[in-house]
Amino acid sequence: MNIRQVLRPDDIDLDDLFFWAMPLAEREGAFQTLRDERPIPFVLEHEIPGFPIETGPGFWCLTRHEHVLYASRTPEIFSSARGATSIPDLPSEFNEFFGGMINMDDPRHARQRRIVSRGFTPRTLAQLEKSVQRRATAVVDRVIEKGQCDFVAEIAAPLPLEIICDLMGIPPSLSAMVFEQTNIILGIGDPEFTANGEDAQLKILGAGAALAALMRELADEHRKRPKDDLTSALLDASQEDGALTDDELCSFFILLVVAGNETTRNAISHGMKALCDYPEQRALWAADFDALARTAVDEIVRWASPVIHMRRTCTRDVVVGEQPMKEGDKVVLWYNSANRDERVFRDPYRFDITRTPNEHVGFGGPGPHFCLGANLARREITVMFREIFRRLPDLMITGEPDRLVSYFIHGIKRMPCSFTAQRAVA
Ligand code: HEM
Repeated sequence: MNIRQVLRPDDIDLDDLFFWAMPLAEREGAFQTLRDERPIPFVLEHEIPGFPIETGPGFWCLTRHEHVLYASRTPEIFSSARGATSIPDLPSEFNEFFGGMINMDDPRHARQRRIVSRGFTPRTLAQLEKSVQRRATAVVDRVIEKGQCDFVAEIAAPLPLEIICDLMGIPPSLSAMVFEQTNIILGIGDPEFTANGEDAQLKILGAGAALAALMRELADEHRKRPKDDLTSALLDASQEDGALTDDELCSFFILLVVAGNETTRNAISHGMKALCDYPEQRALWAADFDALARTAVDEIVRWASPVIHMRRTCTRDVVVGEQPMKEGDKVVLWYNSANRDERVFRDPYRFDITRTPNEHVGFGGPGPHFCLGANLARREITVMFREIFRRLPDLMITGEPDRLVSYFIHGIKRMPCSFTAQRAVA
């Protein structure tokens, strides 16, 4: 990719959606300028139209890999409890409802993480393996006779959503509703998901309430008839640390569907686009899929950087690099920029499926909040691409991706593709 450095540090406003609507090459150029010339800028916050909360004072931006790692590893100074998923300060009930443990510090975070980790053991993941394969086969079956489709809606999106529904024991008839509500929560800021004049806060609250209602029903059912799924494991009070309360369960479910869905979907979409843009990398992977899957999938996550940033708040005065920060200051960890830091990645704008080592922070930096679903996501991406390589080997992206305008999620909303139509397996 050829990046373009068209903005000077003073003109780079990371809190302005106009910046995020600029061409990717220019945004990448801006982050390179910052890493080199002003690695920890302070950005003033703007008022958010339709979001009736006080405009915050601004935030420090960590653009270099080493600083993102430092903040991730030092949660006692860089706290998540004032909100990791939102730069504006939201009421604490809102943060907990929508983010659950991602917006908490230890010891509350540690307790919840231990409980939910019950569902992410190697045994559960091995059980899920068959369902990932079966669902990926079905995804391809549904499109293979058409010869063309929207890659995002019909190939990248269904798998992660269906797997989370399988994990929690949600019936397939409800997955479309889950999908729609998560789009509302994560698409905030993009005009398509909240049309002008609509009250964005109300819309988000409505989406959260719909998901919570679904979860409460599911919890009641699982209490009456426990099953061998994650929901039953989370409600099992006989284990150390007890069970999640109903409120905790709802928040965890919302966290799971928003954290596990769009991220994996966008990794698959960006990955496909990259494989079309770099045909030599695609040919290399096709020649020995299994041998290269591990490094290729991590390169896809680095390349895609589906989560653009997370926020922390300083619990005391601290100096990062040479930049003093005060207790209470907001600090934003720009994973997209850390993943292009030329101090760590040789030729960072080259998509290289053999890249080793690849210390990307696509799943977050090392620390207590490192992505709980990283191994599941890697599995889903591997199985989906294996299925595409085997059964849709000539799939090509036939139009420019329609990108989500967001400073939080690096998303693709639509992307047309075509391939030679064939008979479905089923
Ligand atoms: C390519 C796909 C994915 C990406 C890029 C991604 C990215 C991330 C990132 C950056 C964080 C760190 C948050 C922080 O440090 O504050 C995180 C946390 C988390 N992720 Fe993922 N994620 C992905 C897939 C998944 C999946 C499939 C699941 C579950 C089904 C999942 C569940 C979670 C949870 C529960 C947390 C919160 C962990 C905690 O606070 O202890 N993620 N993810």
